[in-house]
Amino acid sequence: MARQDSPRGYMVPTKQVRISDLTARKASGEKWAMLTAYDYSTAAAFAEAGVECLLVGDSAANVVFGYDQTQQVSLEEMIFLAAGVVRGAGNALVIADLPFGTYEASDEQCVKSAAEMMRRSGAAMIKIEGGRRMAPRIKALTEAGIPVCAHIGFTPQSVNQLSGFKVQGRGDSAAQLLDDMAAVTEAGAEMVVLEMVPADVAKQATEQFPIPTIGIGAGPDTDAQVLVWHDMVALPEHGHRPKFAKQWAQVGASLTDAAASYKREVAEGTFPAEEHCF
Ligand code: KIV
Repeated sequence: MARQDSPRGYMVPTKQVRISDLTARKASGEKWAMLTAYDYSTAAAFAEAGVECLLVGDSAANVVFGYDQTQQVSLEEMIFLAAGVVRGAGNALVIADLPFGTYEASDEQCVKSAAEMMRRSGAAMIKIEGGRRMAPRIKALTEAGIPVCAHIGFTPQSVNQLSGFKVQGRGDSAAQLLDDMAAVTEAGAEMVVLEMVPADVAKQATEQFPIPTIGIGAGPDTDAQVLVWHDMVALPEHGHRPKFAKQWAQVGASLTDAAASYKREVAEGTFPAEEHCF
């Protein structure tokens, strides 16, 4: 994949990143990064950093809309967010989640929702949650010409069925995880997110199957990593931080401080100053 320096000195792809580019990197062992994005401006910032892939995750339910549960976000809300991300994404590959309740009922419902998402947002790939039980949906999407990223291990849309946020694939259930991996690969998924899976099981899944694995709480040996961007920059300042996320900046604190400085200067009458006036 050809890359060049961005204005800020980061190596960015010079051409649109394709699924095949990321698949090829499995063979070369060159790891790549995915971040969630939910709007034009953050998509543009992450693309300028050279992040290869942006995910319009249904984590938007929590971090954008403030819903209590992932399951509350609608297809319509996701499509509006994804369209903004695609406009800001530069050469990054954009993947969009199908939200809860828009694909589980039948292959027809799944293909209709995915086509609606792709047509109206311009996203290049669709992500759905579930392993073997979702293999028919993955096959139906693939046959309809829609590229699929699967999502196995901990699947947030099934949090109630899984009795909370728990690591999946530990001990005896490693076999189940690897069976899900086999099922989504056979059904035609071209990549797979492994969420909250023991590192050794994620390593085995990565080595045993030909499609790229993207880890979140799945250790260092997956082909790629993904994080919800709010988790990697501590936004909000006092929010919950998953164990698997590292913070590279304190954006929540900076944002609050900037807003407080603005408010103070407005109250003092020192903003706007002469240089801000026409
Ligand atoms: O919705 C989301 O942000 C996701 C990631 C956590 C992988 O699915």
